[in-house]
Amino acid sequence: PRSVPHSARSLTTSVDRVAVIGAGQMGIGIAYVASKTAGVDVLISDRSASQLSKGLHFVDTLLGKEVKKGKLSNGEADQVRSRIRGARENGLEGGEFADVDLAIEAVSESLPVKQAIFSSLATHLPPHAILASNTSSISLSTLAASAVSQSGENRASQVVGFHFFNPVPVMKLVELIPALQTDPTVLATAREFAERMGKTVTQSADTPGFISNRLLMPFINEAILALEAGVGSKEDIDTTLKLGMNHPMGPLTLADFIGLDTCLSIMEVLQRETGDCKYRPAVLLGRMVSAGYLGKKSGRGFYNYD
Ligand code: CAA
Repeated sequence: PRSVPHSARSLTTSVDRVAVIGAGQMGIGIAYVASKTAGVDVLISDRSASQLSKGLHFVDTLLGKEVKKGKLSNGEADQVRSRIRGARENGLEGGEFADVDLAIEAVSESLPVKQAIFSSLATHLPPHAILASNTSSISLSTLAASAVSQSGENRASQVVGFHFFNPVPVMKLVELIPALQTDPTVLATAREFAERMGKTVTQSADTPGFISNRLLMPFINEAILALEAGVGSKEDIDTTLKLGMNHPMGPLTLADFIGLDTCLSIMEVLQRETGDCKYRPAVLLGRMVSAGYLGKKSGRGFYNYD
């Protein structure tokens, strides 16, 4: 399709209405902080209606805990909750996204799924909107290339990486990743909004794993290789890092917490895109994922969870 140059549009410089695509642990955390700290209206959608209601229920749980701790009054919690709305449709159709300034995609790390979402966002968001992705390893320049609407409008310059950390309400960082195509206004507005969410921003080039996972995933993978090699028990590996280096969680506990499928897919991206064998995923990591032992979310990973 013919591309319309972006200079024909004016881009948003302030964000009042946010959409979050994906109501998993990251999407819900992002929606919660956007409403609670930045004070904006949030529309959240998921292709699974049951995941969406589970996610919204989790928002209620988080707010209930804040009220119990005395960090929010009942009235404040009600306000935070009232700004978050679940989308009526499972997809992005239906006109619900017509007044969104910033959409943040937070679905699982699958390139085709994310590409389909970016093409759909390019079709259904208003012309000024920012299209952000919470991807932890997929190239933003690749995702931006799929931000073309059904009528041929090219929105690649409106795409930016907006990488949060789990648990989103607690972790203070957003890693900002410009695609090669990102307009500087989009980058500046995204940075400002991350700061409104109470986060500190670092910027990373669009390279495999960005700063965070280029460093974190080989560390986690090395812990799994050490376990495979019998260097120590899982408890001894974790305790060594936790107490010897003051990490809040040992690397195997952290892998379970992140999700072993996510860890594997990030290692695969690092290995594939760099061609460097130092990023080879541990065999045990692949086997655990094949077995469905995905960590905390599936009830079993390196450890068992009730
Ligand atoms: N949502 C909201 N709040 C949460 C939470 C959640 N899911 N989990 C914990 N918290 C809050 C608790 O309510 C508590 O708040 P208060 O201080 O107000 O009481 C606070 O966090 C501390 O929690 P706990 O006392 O229960 O437990 P803890 O002190 O062991 O902290 C932790 C829990 C914050 C998760 C800590 O263990 C930690 O920082 N772990 C490392 C997390 C990490 O590295 N995350 C990044 C993963 S990488 C990633 O996400 C990106 C990627 O690309 C892979």
